[in-house]
Amino acid sequence: MIKVMYPGSFDPLTLGHEDIIKRASKMFDVVIVGVLKNETKKSLLTIEERMELIEVSTEHLGNVEVVTFDELLVDYVFEKKINFILKGLRNNKDFEEELVMAQGIKVYNKEVETLFMPTKPSLSYISSSIVKSLFYNKGTIDNYVNIDVLKKLESRRKNEKDRAVFKNN
Ligand code: PNS
Repeated sequence: MIKVMYPGSFDPLTLGHEDIIKRASKMFDVVIVGVLKNETKKSLLTIEERMELIEVSTEHLGNVEVVTFDELLVDYVFEKKINFILKGLRNNKDFEEELVMAQGIKVYNKEVETLFMPTKPSLSYISSSIVKSLFYNKGTIDNYVNIDVLKKLESRRKNEKDRAVFKNN
């Protein structure tokens, strides 16, 4: 049983993330989507909201599990006996950052392997930070996220209290 972990903040899940998860689900027995619990990073969605959106968006694939983790990724993957870490690459900047990370992981624990998967070219413009920026500035995000994520964000926008909070972000 070959397991792969696809880690990230997923704040929120984008069409780019979904494409990587879908392709990985055909290549590995189990895809574990790991949502990083990072209390210091200001987030748009709660961990629970992010996990739920990933679950509803990937349940049709049949071999995707969603977990949260708050220790070092390399330690989590080793402890849980997950075979590979999977990272999506959109461009040279991702490659440079992820190569250094993968090499750091290898130095830290030589048993842990990182794999890279190039993003589908038509989705390489997408990032969670652009989605957040569009969201906070009342932009259209239909080309970035699926309908469930869109509905979730729109329901948040309708909430006057949230709107006041978002303005200060
Ligand atoms: O950009 P994101 O989505 O917030 O990425 C989160 C994550 C967990 C994928 C990223 O921070 C990462 O790859 N961390 C690896 C941390 C680690 O295990 N380091 C070991 C020594 S380099």
